[in-house]
Amino acid sequence: MTINNIPVIAIDGPSASGKGTVARLVSEALGFYYLDSGVLYRLIALEAIQAKIDLNDEESLENIAIHLDTKFSKRGVTLRNKDVTGIVRHETYGNAASKVAQHSRLREALINRQRAFRKSPGLVADGRDMCSVVFPDATLKIFLTASVEIRAKRRYKQLMEKGEDVNITMILKDIKDRDTRDSVRSVAPLKQDRGSNLIDTTFMDVTEVVNKILDHYSEISVKSI
Ligand code: CDP
Repeated sequence: MTINNIPVIAIDGPSASGKGTVARLVSEALGFYYLDSGVLYRLIALEAIQAKIDLNDEESLENIAIHLDTKFSKRGVTLRNKDVTGIVRHETYGNAASKVAQHSRLREALINRQRAFRKSPGLVADGRDMCSVVFPDATLKIFLTASVEIRAKRRYKQLMEKGEDVNITMILKDIKDRDTRDSVRSVAPLKQDRGSNLIDTTFMDVTEVVNKILDHYSEISVKSI
């Protein structure tokens, strides 16, 4: 099987649309690999902040992206052999990630690293530009969204459960700011790709969304037999 024949389900969407949870469950249901591309941007933000690098310094950020020493496993993610699974999910790094993600050279430097996750029997990849840039030939493309208020509530619940000290008004503002930054940037902006299936999850629970994606995928698999 050549690499281009390995199936990819690409799932894009705005912050807190549930991509991560849904993508992981779809990958488990199909026995596929999983790529959470947002973590790469979060890791770069983490490394830059730790090294006191300005988030506008594109050259230094590109350099971090090229040399990013990270490993993904079922247990989580490491940076320079240190477990950063918990810390990298902190909102500080989510916000900083959306700032570093605006730099085209840094994005370019991550493309092959992301494509390397495409391994047999298949991959589920989530992010902002999985459908448009990283896997334009994906077998199935999904754009997952929900109203901004629902997304803020979901993120609030998620962070509260982790014991973070959070405030719903701040989260709503952060998500709106992030939506704007992710959508207006000139390189790989967040938008529904042509050919991708829109799923609005405002009134859907996780299981319904996962089943809908699996249904779409089995329709394609049946057609291609
Ligand atoms: O969990 P959430 O959706 O809030 O964030 P994430 O998926 O971990 O991504 C963090 C940030 O990285 C996003 O706000 C995007 O700006 C950026 N990102 C991106 O530009 N392209 C991707 N493929 C994934 C994330």
